[in-house]
Amino acid sequence: MQAKFPSESVTTLTDLVLPGETNPLNNLFGGELLARMDRAASITARRHSRRICVTASVNHVAFNRAIPLGSVVTVESKVSRTFNTSMEIFIDVWIEDRESGIKNKANEAIYTFVAVDETGRPIPVPPIIPETDLEKQRYDAALRRKQLSLVLAGKMKPNEATELKALFTE
Ligand SMILES: CC(C)(COP(=O)(O)OP(=O)(O)OC[C@H]1O[C@@H](n2cnc3c(N)ncnc32)[C@H](O)[C@@H]1OP(=O)(O)O)[C@@H](O)C(=O)NCCC(=O)NCCS
Repeated sequence: MQAKFPSESVTTLTDLVLPGETNPLNNLFGGELLARMDRAASITARRHSRRICVTASVNHVAFNRAIPLGSVVTVESKVSRTFNTSMEIFIDVWIEDRESGIKNKANEAIYTFVAVDETGRPIPVPPIIPETDLEKQRYDAALRRKQLSLVLAGKMKPNEATELKALFTE
């Protein structure tokens, strides 16, 4: 299967925060942001694999900054690494300053998607070739994140998570 670059499937969704999408503090409701990130990541996974893709896991979410009502929010998703049938997708969330137009990083998340056939059975995806320094850094750390996610899901024994163990023994 022909390898692809992250830039070929990068997805950018920009939208406003409207009143029905906020919590009692008038900031974006966390579940709404999760849905926006899932939507962007799902498009990225589909663009990379050109297959039906399902969310297998939300590996990490950091709500570092509240996003106020009326903000212009940009969600950018990119494939950070592929394995056999799964893809790790990294999502960066930015808020655009109304006056300067400068985008400030608000949150980030990591999702795992799996490509499946028409019956829902996992199928292989093309490899990915990271290009930028950040893409290479995220690619290098992805295997231990996969192992951590599998251990937490009870799908891998901790003593089989060799990359993860190396973190603590190096
Ligand atoms: C995701 C799904 C297809 C995986 O099916 P499965 O029978 O567990 O298949 P496998 O065990 O072969 O796993 C497939 C891949 O997903 C990876 N995977 C499964 N669970 C994972 C997890 N929690 N974290 C990271 N990767 C995971 C496996 O490591 C494997 O990756 P690889 O082939 O690249 O090495 C299946 O569980 C499913 O359909 N889930 C529902 C998806 C869905 O409906 N999502 C929307 C949310 S409601």
